[in-house]
Amino acid sequence: MPAVYIKTYGCQMNERDSEQVARMLQAKGYDLATDERQADVVLVNTCSVRDQAEQKALGKMGLLSHLKRERPGLILGFMGCMAQSRGQELVDRLPDLDLVLGTQQFHRAADCIDLLRSQFDGPRRPIVDVSDSPGSESTIRDHVLRPGQATAFVSIMQGCDMSCAYCIVPATRGRERSRPIPEIVREVEGLVASGVREVTLLGQIVNLYGRREFPCSEGRTPFVQLLHALDKIPGLQRIRFTSPHPAGLKDDLIRAYAELPKLCEHMHLPVQSGSDRILRAMRRSYTREIFLRKVDALRAARPDIALTTDIIVAFPGETERDFLDTCSLAEEVRFDNAFIFRYSDRRDTPAASMDGQLPEDVKQARNQHLLQIVNRIARDTLASLVGSTQEILVEGPSKTNPSRLAGRTRHNRIAVFEGHGHAPGSLLALRITRSSDHTLYGCPAET
Ligand code: SAH
Ligand code: SF4
Ligand code: F3S
Repeated sequence: MPAVYIKTYGCQMNERDSEQVARMLQAKGYDLATDERQADVVLVNTCSVRDQAEQKALGKMGLLSHLKRERPGLILGFMGCMAQSRGQELVDRLPDLDLVLGTQQFHRAADCIDLLRSQFDGPRRPIVDVSDSPGSESTIRDHVLRPGQATAFVSIMQGCDMSCAYCIVPATRGRERSRPIPEIVREVEGLVASGVREVTLLGQIVNLYGRREFPCSEGRTPFVQLLHALDKIPGLQRIRFTSPHPAGLKDDLIRAYAELPKLCEHMHLPVQSGSDRILRAMRRSYTREIFLRKVDALRAARPDIALTTDIIVAFPGETERDFLDTCSLAEEVRFDNAFIFRYSDRRDTPAASMDGQLPEDVKQARNQHLLQIVNRIARDTLASLVGSTQEILVEGPSKTNPSRLAGRTRHNRIAVFEGHGHAPGSLLALRITRSSDHTLYGCPAET
């Protein structure tokens, strides 16, 4: 059978969408290649969130075009956010491209590839489809599980109706659309029956799940209703989600941390900036003070909750003073870790035409400065855990040293240990013996 290789850039949602495409191709009898050189079809699932992400995908497609010169039968496709935002323009610019599928058309990938293969002998006409498809959010529901896979992503909604001034996602992912709770519960039950112990719920503003489609009940938003429903599934051990928006972080979700034992004590809560002036310009609809108050409330509900975040440095008009406000916020919250991004102007976003665009050297310097603060705090936090015992969900061999096993604590910290007889999916108590910048090391407590 023909073999397909899928290369994925961008966020976990893209990973998840690629997995769905892989599953549908498998169901049609395609093999999944682990290398583009062994593939008859190469699909690149793209991201548009920063210029760098787009350049990577374009670079990859350039390399694949060379491969196609050697093997003219090769089918090349672009999917995902960049496909959505650029559509036909991509085919005009990249003559070797056969397929451009937008973010609401992943479910059509297998049929399109069949169609393209049927045209093998004649000139192929590229297929471009970036149209809306009602109900597409419910098509991301099947999984390709590795033997012993302990953890899985579940897409619970698509799209984003916020309008952060810098962000292209609402344009690439469309309006918010959420899947019904029973459908998600069925998917998670199926995963648990296959051995999965931990799920991470995915959505661009995941805590606003269902806000237009489903009613509140007993003072709980649809997202918190979903968490309660999942908490009841026997055999599921851990529930995570990413990424919530601070504005939607209300009391019912904070209460859930006190009520739901399976909800892990970690939240990735993107703050973007510590300056009120910049938050306003970004249209983030909360202030530094409100963010800090929410952090306090979360820590009151789960005292040891670990927080990670996203921060954009050098947004248009960001002064040194604004930047120092972001640094002081990082010190105050003591994030476990933070993804720091240099502002990248995205076309047709309001921020792209704002005054005060900053030069690359300022972006670079602020990135470095903040990274040092974040890394110091991360290192100190991990070091403070040496001597403690942590619950680990074993995921499999460590990526950096396959003779060891790796897993994660409930706080989403990576832990590596020597040990045999701990199958992926098992929970164990690990005594932490040392730490590095981003990893804990330990030994099983019972030995
Ligand atoms: N929906 C999530 C994150 C979406 S994109 C949220 O609202 O939190 C992931 C991260 O990319 C964002 O949190 C932001 O920090 C970063 N990002 C988005 N647009 C960007 C841009 N134009 N330049 C630099 N970073 C950006
Ligand atoms: Fe982008 Fe803002 Fe939506 Fe997140 S909430 S995806 S940053 S527009
Ligand atoms: Fe990128 Fe699209 Fe995700 S722009 S961050 S792949 S939603």
